[in-house]
Order: sequence, then structure tokens, then C-alpha cells
Amino acid sequence: VRDTDGREYVDCLAGAGALPLGHNHPVVVSAVERALRDDVPLTTLDLPTPTKDEFVEQLFAVLPPRLAEGRIQFCSPSGADAVEAALKLAKTATRRSGVVTFGGGYHGMTHGALAVTGAVGPKAPLGPLVADVHHLPFPTARTPIDSELCTRVLQWALHDDHSGITPPAAAIVEPVQGEGGVHAMPEDFAHALRTSTRTTGSVLIADEVQTGLGRTGTLWASTPLGLDPDVMVLSKAIGGGLPLAVIVYRAELDLWGPGAHSGTFRGNQLAMAAGTATIAHVVAERLDEHAAAMGARLVDGLRQVVPAGYDAVGDIRGSGLMVGVEMVDPDKLSPLGVPEADGKAASVLQHGMLRRGVIVEVGGRAEAVLRFLPPLIVEPAQIDRIVDTFADALRDL
Ligand SMILES: Cc1ncc(COP(=O)(O)O)c(C=O)c1O
Repeated sequence: VRDTDGREYVDCLAGAGALPLGHNHPVVVSAVERALRDDVPLTTLDLPTPTKDEFVEQLFAVLPPRLAEGRIQFCSPSGADAVEAALKLAKTATRRSGVVTFGGGYHGMTHGALAVTGAVGPKAPLGPLVADVHHLPFPTARTPIDSELCTRVLQWALHDDHSGITPPAAAIVEPVQGEGGVHAMPEDFAHALRTSTRTTGSVLIADEVQTGLGRTGTLWASTPLGLDPDVMVLSKAIGGGLPLAVIVYRAELDLWGPGAHSGTFRGNQLAMAAGTATIAHVVAERLDEHAAAMGARLVDGLRQVVPAGYDAVGDIRGSGLMVGVEMVDPDKLSPLGVPEADGKAASVLQHGMLRRGVIVEVGGRAEAVLRFLPPLIVEPAQIDRIVDTFADALRDL
């Protein structure tokens, strides 16, 4: 991207993951131009249209098998609204009210989505949100709560009839936590989550709003984990940069009535046209595999430029092109007994990189994780420029 003074940046935020092909990719631009030339109606509520049919066909052609036989609900075009829809669907189908969710998870800012989100800051001024939501620990590299312990807590919560938690309608989870600071779900935890939710008859909702469509190095982050979700929440990348959000779900959950999740702006034809073209391009160009290769190059490069023994860089981790560098203060221990997250250091690095022409985001605990989320089309030379810029900013620090 270029700013108003003509300075050029490598954008590693990319619309918070909504721009898998970067800004104004010709594939997206020409799909939108074509739709306009064809004089498609711009907004169509629930009406079926050829543009919508094409989008649904294209999406279902690449979904995990069990969901490809399922249903779709178009939502108001934000990830948060699609999360609301997923929770409502699960509650309606199971006739239960409870939801299990995980620390560090991010699901959006509306009341229901915020209720199942881990970050406590945005909740503080609001008082009670949605009732019967239970937050369980998620295994991360930087907290002392490992996968085995998280698994045991999960199994206790769902199977001990004195845990205080009635069998929940749903469990909602990000296969790789994004806003929470780039934490991939360990496979054994995914297996336990799938098994336990199946046993308790709870709907497993995978929030792939950020991970979906190749970001983590596979088309869907749930697939290599064997998560096999009952519902997948999708937004961001599937609209190619235009607002679009859907849930896809197993047909037997389709027990809600017509209009159960209505909303005016669910028929955005330009977004569907852009989305169809984007999905087709990602699949045809194998951009998921490209993301895996570029992500590995980025993680390797970042690790190489951190001087040996420089322990303010607490961790460098990634899944495909969802990469995080966690800054810590090695001289301070958190109450959990791990080095304190250092948001100030991350902010200095972020600004240092911006000055040098690379846009990165911060996230995670205390905003101490520098987040790299470049478009999936990023090239090796650009990855190397990102790494060099990080190294320069680190020297300043
Ligand atoms: C995993 C996940 N779920 C839900 C959302 C909310 O999406 P939106 O900001 O479009 O409401 C986000 C946004 O970053 C997200 O990363």
C-alpha cells in the first residue's frame, strides 16, 4: 500500500486477514467490475441469485467433507454476527443454553460474541453479558497451562456431574488463536475436544473467521487437527476484502425456523462475486501451500536475526502466515510464574517497523505479541524485507 505522501509499505495486517490476495488484486477488481457491468442488483436480502449460487457452489466445493454436505446461513457481514448465529443455531438445535469457550479466544464485539471472548478489558465496563458461558483454559506456549492439564480440565468440566456446568449447547474455539496472540491448538487437545463434545451432545463450533481459506497453511485450520467441527464460522478472507460472513453447518442441526437469524445486509452481491473469485484463485494457485512455505521462511528468518541470548524475545511462533513474536521482560515474573508480557517493547518494535515501511499488528496478553498477517500472495523477497526490517527495529530496541 502507499500512503497519501506516496510512501510504500508492506502490509502485514492486510485488513486483519480480510485481504488474502492483498489490496485491489486484479482477480478481485475484475470480479467486482464484471458484476457491475452485468448490472447485478447490489443487495438482495435472501433472494437466490446466480451470483449467490456461484458463491455457494464455489465455497461448498472446498469445504471439509461433512460440512460440504451441510447447510449455509448468510449473516450480517461481520465475523461477530456469524458467531452470534452459530451460538443461536447450537442452542436451538440442542435446546440447551450453555456455551464452553476458551481463554485467549477472540470471537467479536457484539454481546454474545464478546461473552465468549477471553479478553476481559472490553467486558469491564459492561457488566453481565450472556449467561451460562464457561471459560476453560486453552493450551499456549507461554502460560504454564499445558495441553495435558487443559485436556483434563476440559474433561472434568464436561463429564463430572459435579463440575457445576450443565451439558452445554456448544463449545466454540479458534483452531489457531489469532487476536489472543497466535496460539495453535495442540492436536491432542483438539482430539479431546472433539471426543468430549460428541459424548455430551454439544455442538462443536470452529471459529475460522481469521484462519479460514489458507491462512494457516491449509485451506481450513480445523482439518489437520482432525477437529471435524459441526459448525464453521467464516468471514474475512471469503469475501476477498468485501464484507461477507456465513456459517456452514451439518444438516441435522438445521432446526431453526426461517427468519431465525435475519438481517438486512446479508445479500451483498459484490462481496459474493469477489468472494467466489478469491476462493477460486486461492485454490487454483495453491496459496495455502504457498502460505505454509512463506510462513516457515518468515519464522526461520525472524528466529535467525534475534541475537543469541537476547531473551526479551520470548517466543517466535506461527501457523502458515499467522505469525507472532512475543516480547517479554525477562527480569519480571508474572503471577503465573512466566516472564511478564512486555507490551511496551512490542509497541516500540511496531512503530520502528512502521517508520521503515512495514505494517504489523500487536495482540495477545498486554498487546505484547507482534502479529504478522501478510496477504497469502506475499513473495520471498518481501518476506526477507519484513525480516530485515524487524532486525533493524530490534537493534533500536
Ligand atoms: C477468530 C475471529 N472471530 C471473530 C472475529 C470478529 O469478526 P468481525 O471483526 O468481523 O466482527 C474476529 C475478528 O478479528 C476473529 O479474528
